[in-house]
Amino acid sequence: MITRRRLIAAAALWPIAPAAFGQTRRLTCGAVTPRQTEGPFFKPSSPQRNLLVDGRATLLVTGQVLSRECKPMANALLDFWHADEKGEYDNQGFRYRGHQFTDAEGRYHLETIVPAEYPGRARHIHVKLQPPGGRVLTTQLYFPNQERNEADDLFRPELVMQMKTRSVGAFDFVVA
Ligand SMILES: [Fe+2]
Repeated sequence: MITRRRLIAAAALWPIAPAAFGQTRRLTCGAVTPRQTEGPFFKPSSPQRNLLVDGRATLLVTGQVLSRECKPMANALLDFWHADEKGEYDNQGFRYRGHQFTDAEGRYHLETIVPAEYPGRARHIHVKLQPPGGRVLTTQLYFPNQERNEADDLFRPELVMQMKTRSVGAFDFVVA
């Protein structure tokens, strides 16, 4: 019969067991962030800025751009655009549009508002991401626990932000 003490000892040894067997497990940052359609409202040449709102930001999204080996990617371009408080896009000007570059640790931060829903779609934020010299990744970020998520054919659970509060979200991009 295995004593309680023996079980604890076995559990303590377990985490180092693969190393003891010489297993070389490559550290990965998980699956590459899925691509999504850019939709009909992308506009090139957005202003460079982290803050997309004239007044008070009510949503902060932070995260990193990482390689599959978890290496932070500095100077990656992130171009965000999303709908306004009424679920409409500004196609004349650049409201709720802006691009930025990741810092030395691959970090970005976006200060904006929570976009309103518009017909046929779950609440989302569009983004185009490009590491220096790399391929453009176009995708969309979603909010958790939204009634419309499951009804939206484009919705992907891998693209849901982690919301620490209603106004503070996080998402790490993994690029090939
Ligand atoms: Fe959209």
